[in-house]
Amino acid sequence: MTITSARLTNSSSTPDAAGTAPKNADPHIVAWVASIASLTTPDAVVWCDGSLAENDRLTRMMVDSGTLLRLNAEHRPNSFLARSDPSDVARVEARTFICSESEDAAGPTNNWREPAEMRGTLSTLFAGSMRGRTMYVVPFSMGPLGSPLAKLGVQVTDSPYVVVSTRIMTRMGADALSLIGPDTEWVPAVHSVGAPLVNGAKDVPWPCNETKYISHFPETREIWSYGSAYGGNALLAKKSFALRIASVLARDEGWLAEHMLILKITNTRGKVFHIAAAFPSACGKTNLAMLRPSIPGWKVETIGDDIAWLRPGPDGRLRAINPEAGFFGVAPGTGRSTNATAIDTLWGNTIFTNVALREDGDVWWEGLSEKAPDNLTDWQGNAWSSTSGSTAAHPNSRFTVAAAQCPAIADDWQDPEGVVIDAIIFGGRRATNVPLVTEARGWEHGVFVGATVSSERTAAAEGTVGELRRDPFAMMPFCGYNMADYWSHWLEIGETLGTQAPKIFQVNWFRKGADGSFLWPGFAENSRVLEWILDRVDGRAAALDTPLGWKPVDGGLNVDGINVTHRDLTQLFDVDPDAWFAELDATEQFFATFGDRLPASLTAQLTDIRRRLKLSIEN
Ligand code: OXD
Ligand code: MN
Repeated sequence: MTITSARLTNSSSTPDAAGTAPKNADPHIVAWVASIASLTTPDAVVWCDGSLAENDRLTRMMVDSGTLLRLNAEHRPNSFLARSDPSDVARVEARTFICSESEDAAGPTNNWREPAEMRGTLSTLFAGSMRGRTMYVVPFSMGPLGSPLAKLGVQVTDSPYVVVSTRIMTRMGADALSLIGPDTEWVPAVHSVGAPLVNGAKDVPWPCNETKYISHFPETREIWSYGSAYGGNALLAKKSFALRIASVLARDEGWLAEHMLILKITNTRGKVFHIAAAFPSACGKTNLAMLRPSIPGWKVETIGDDIAWLRPGPDGRLRAINPEAGFFGVAPGTGRSTNATAIDTLWGNTIFTNVALREDGDVWWEGLSEKAPDNLTDWQGNAWSSTSGSTAAHPNSRFTVAAAQCPAIADDWQDPEGVVIDAIIFGGRRATNVPLVTEARGWEHGVFVGATVSSERTAAAEGTVGELRRDPFAMMPFCGYNMADYWSHWLEIGETLGTQAPKIFQVNWFRKGADGSFLWPGFAENSRVLEWILDRVDGRAAALDTPLGWKPVDGGLNVDGINVTHRDLTQLFDVDPDAWFAELDATEQFFATFGDRLPASLTAQLTDIRRRLKLSIEN
């Protein structure tokens, strides 16, 4: 059987798929499920209703099969540990494909495959791929059910781990299904671990396949994922739908699907603000999303930690929802001193993946406490000690937990209309060049700032230490179309918003002094930077013009009671023209890879910043 389009393949229906469908299931979905069942030939088809009883059945089944280990309920009620196959531990960007009709539509930052060729490959891989397994049908809503900003999807999967994870990460089940009628748009997502149980083969705790394809078809809005059960490769509602496919929908419909956290902040004057912030991975995004501010009288609440959908509202202001319902956070480095709110969120009802197990049946990971407890079992199930020469938890080990369980969740986090965004922040991990905080001169300059987001490589990543890893808008692995067209789309949204557009800021918590130590304390003290940002939004803070944008005036940033000297502050805001000329040359080279699709206003920004740098030397 050939996959022509997921919606259209209804050549041979499987009675099982149709017969087990809920009465109210839209016939298009039933036909699609039947077509996938006839391609993948599972033993059974189960339509998921998202109920607690169903979840309980599935987790019990996975405990019996060895996929999940039930944690000690005295310490972590209703919580589980999953240990993945050691080869299936992270998103696989090299195996992630954008299969648009033309290569140019995918652009130079994506892996492109010709759609017909990819359909051929997938037809072969998916044929019979679910033999001996159950295929689960998982309807879900990204965003509050029925919200005008929400979107619907249906994932089929042969992984019960993916089902219970999706139940946490989305609004999943019968309510989402009932919102899909004959004219409703929904995104079909097909997932198989690629491990059919044939000839009496015994199942393993974490089935997967060496061959992996995470494929997206932007024109037909389909997702096909094969071979992995881990995170973004398999929980297709997240990166595949809410970012890659949604970025294409957003381009076509006049909104933005972004890799951003959303915060609600109430200042000492009782004024409420909402901000959206994009950071590449390993920049402390979850910590910022759950910030406990050091400023007395300030309140920071969480709306989202990873993805934001933003759309100009009826009043012309930019509104945002968190399309997700849970957090899929990196465990290592999360501890009471770095993120007490996350620790309080994880008290129970949590699925942990690839963390270490304590002898008392609770979990542990590096950074949870200063000292590792005795007698740990590592993420692969082996006895571990601090002399083992490896970490006890995998560096990309995760927790999956409902956002509603976060003690700092904002009361408006599920507002179906979204929250009004007052400021947009771009961050990166930069030891040099990028000041602690600057305000972009306007939307176009802000788009330039977003397009040039980057982090220096650390020793932990492949490549030369110190070399810049570009991550425009923190969307490098997640933009479903040509990145230069995406920048043009941002510029168009700015035109739509006009004078109502939120201000855009750049932050860098990671600048280092000449001795190599961090100049800024970070964590809770980042609230001081947010305070300046919100005072700018409120028209209360003065600023000085610099070649890179507006910065706080002398004494404008509140550093009372912290150990940041005047000299540190000078270094935190230092603009070295030579280093910046070199940086802009590198940016120009990067921009050149997009050829004539690069929006002219980004080149104009380069010229403008060079001009301002020259002026700053002359004066
Ligand atoms: C994530 C990521 O898992 O950005 O959120 O990789
Ligand atoms: Mn992310």
